[in-house]
Amino acid sequence: MTKVAIVTGGTRGIGEAISLALKKMGYVVAANYAGNDEKARAFSERTGIDSFRWDVGDHQACLDGCAAVADRLGSVDIVVNNAGITRDGVLAKMSFDDWNEVMRINLGGCFNMAKATFDGMRQRGWGRFVNIGSVNGQAGQYGQVNYAAAKSGIHGFTKALAQEGAKYGITVNAIAPGYVDTDMVAAVPAQVLEKIVAKIPVGRLGHAGEIARGVAFLCSEEAGFVTGSTMSINGGQHMY
Ligand code: CAA
Repeated sequence: MTKVAIVTGGTRGIGEAISLALKKMGYVVAANYAGNDEKARAFSERTGIDSFRWDVGDHQACLDGCAAVADRLGSVDIVVNNAGITRDGVLAKMSFDDWNEVMRINLGGCFNMAKATFDGMRQRGWGRFVNIGSVNGQAGQYGQVNYAAAKSGIHGFTKALAQEGAKYGITVNAIAPGYVDTDMVAAVPAQVLEKIVAKIPVGRLGHAGEIARGVAFLCSEEAGFVTGSTMSINGGQHMY
């Protein structure tokens, strides 16, 4: 039977490239999005991929959203936890809300999505989770205590859930992208970004498709022996 994949934040940026890559592999894809109905509609019309709106940071919304995907497309076999936000600022200027929102969405979203789907995968004896971390979760980044902590948390979450999933045929892996040419990175002040790119050995920003290729591999049948790993795709910025 055709496998069903959910990609959170799957209608834009890296998420869009992942949704397209999984569709190309023959999976039925549901692209989750948080708020931009217009962009999501345009994405669905352009790609033929169904989009579903819910906030991954909201526990009940995840349970309901995943149930809606299962009703329309079938049981969920693959989850790519890609949805994430930034609220950058030095600690002195960072509000509790900036901290909390990033933790709630970036890290809480992984927990919520796993709670909604892990049990079904366990019963069917097959599953794939790919959690999108970040080079900044591995190396830290000035002005990102919230984001770096959440992304670092994703790497720990991945290794813990991988141990629980292994005996049920569920693999759990992370990808740690570097700086990729998306809207999120475009929001970094130009002079700051210039300095960051100067330190990337490959000498450029990554492309969303280069992250999606890694996700596609980890979601494949052939990757069944890969679990608890982190694949760094960062142009050599941080070799870890
Ligand atoms: N290391 C040391 N010092 C630094 C620094 C760094 N990396 N970056 C800035 N500083 C210093 C500056 O030199 C400056 O020092 P002085 O006051 O002595 O001149 C001081 O910190 C303040 O810098 P800013 O003027 O930049 O401060 P700001 O308050 O206007 O902005 C900031 C701070 C919001 C953190 C801004 O620097 C910024 O946006 N930085 C980029 C953060 C970043 O890389 N975010 C990644 C987003 S993309 C993403 O997250 C995707 C992914 O997974 C990779």
